[in-house]
Amino acid sequence: MFSEEKLNKVKEIIARYPAGKQKSALIPLLHLAQEEFGGWLSAETMDYVASLLQIKPIEVYEVATFYSMFNLKPVGKYVFEVCQTGPCMLRGSDNIIDYIKKKLDIGVGETTNDGLFTLKTVECLGACGYAPMMQLGKHFREHLTPEKVDAIIEECRVKAN
Ligand code: FES
Repeated sequence: MFSEEKLNKVKEIIARYPAGKQKSALIPLLHLAQEEFGGWLSAETMDYVASLLQIKPIEVYEVATFYSMFNLKPVGKYVFEVCQTGPCMLRGSDNIIDYIKKKLDIGVGETTNDGLFTLKTVECLGACGYAPMMQLGKHFREHLTPEKVDAIIEECRVKAN
């Protein structure tokens, strides 16, 4: 269940859309739920969002499983979403992905044992001019190199302490 404060936010989001079109609030509500409930969406969480919008759970699952920004299993505190689409690939995203895998000793879709990092690959994030790049939280990290990846990992470790 959302806190009172978040429920008010839910009402505010739903009110942005015309009456009867509350389903349009689904994506912002899923973001809110993911943020509130540990960085991922369990079936219970998705059912809860469906009940808030008075829509069928399947309508929520369809959206949550389509977009890569929604996590359907627990993730680490820091999620590296590395773009693997053409322009990023041509600029070496494969090497970056391999580097992160080796450095953190995880595969794509996996989380480090300390629960700090998850590696995901995603499709074009619209920042092709800054390739290779990844999204980390609400920010893009651009022109990635192994050295930059090392610095980002270190920065996350420092923040986590
Ligand atoms: S291809 Fe990577 S941001 Fe567009």
